This record gives sequence, structure tokens and C-alpha cells, in this order.
Amino acid sequence: MAALLAPVEESYFGGMMHEKISEALNAQIALEGQSSHTYLTMAVWAETQGFDGVADFLYAHAEEERMHMLKLMRFVNERGAVALVPTVHAGPTSYQGLREVFESILGHETKVTENINGVVDLCLSVKDYTTHNFMQWYVGEQIEEEALARKLLDKLALAGDDNGAMYLFDRDIMGFMAQASNKA
Ligand code: FEO
Repeated sequence: MAALLAPVEESYFGGMMHEKISEALNAQIALEGQSSHTYLTMAVWAETQGFDGVADFLYAHAEEERMHMLKLMRFVNERGAVALVPTVHAGPTSYQGLREVFESILGHETKVTENINGVVDLCLSVKDYTTHNFMQWYVGEQIEEEALARKLLDKLALAGDDNGAMYLFDRDIMGFMAQASNKA
């Protein structure tokens, strides 16, 4: 039976990962771990300000970022390198309001996209087409995440400083998220 299997060097996870790629993926792991923690800090702020809908959104988003980190870790380990468990820091613990939270999210996600694009470029330069293929999932995810952050900022711009509109935004945010993912 074993003789029917492809030689190790030809199998999907057989080739050792280039050191530059494992370094870049570990940097991405750290960024995803930090994203999760930053959204968690934001969620605590939102919940303690009475924005329960926004808090639900941010707690869920923190879990998603943790999943992004774990997916990368498992891939790095399966490819023969070692994933590094990152040290994370609490993000800012207070915000002027929801607009500042979502502007910060958009800024953060733009940085994540730039990093992912950097990893994709590096994959091409060292001809690691396996990792290149794997990273396409992250490229697609970033398109969705940036689009959602922009959509929520547009909604907040419409709300202006009106407390009633903020109340509705907080009530409806999970619905906006579902709409955005249905369109993607
Ligand atoms: Fe996993 Fe929002 O980047």
C-alpha cells in the first residue's frame, strides 16, 4: 500500500517550507492574533457603553480572527515548519464613539490586506505555489472584511450624531453583516 503513495517530496505537504515563507506566515499569525485581541478589547468597550449589538458583532469578529490565526498555524505546522504562538497586547480601551471604533477597524484591516499581499508576492518570488494557493482564501476574506468595514462606516455617516440613529445602528448591525456576506 505504501508503495502506491507519492514520494514525500512530491506530496502536497512534503516539501519543506522556505524560511522566508515561514517567517512571513508567522508574522501573519501574529497579526491575526493581535486582530482577535484588538476586537476583543473593542467588544468590551462596546458592551460597557450599552452597545450590545456592536459588542456581539465584535465578539464574533474576535473569534473569526482567532480562526484565521489557527488556520495559518495548522498550515505552517503541516508544511514542516513551526508556528509561533504570538504575544498579543490589549488595544486601546476607550473610544470617542462608534465612528472611531469602525475607522480603527478599517485602518487595521487595510494593514492586514497589505501584509497578505506581501506574503502572496513573496510566494511568487520563491515559487511556493502551494502557499500561494492557500493564501487566496485570505485574499478573498480581506475583500469581504474591508467592504463590510466601509459599509458600516457609511451607515454611521448617515446616522451622524443622532442618538436614535445610533440605537438603530446598534440594533441592526448583525443584519448588515449578514447582508454583506450574502452579497460576497
Ligand atoms: Fe483576519 Fe480581519 O483579518
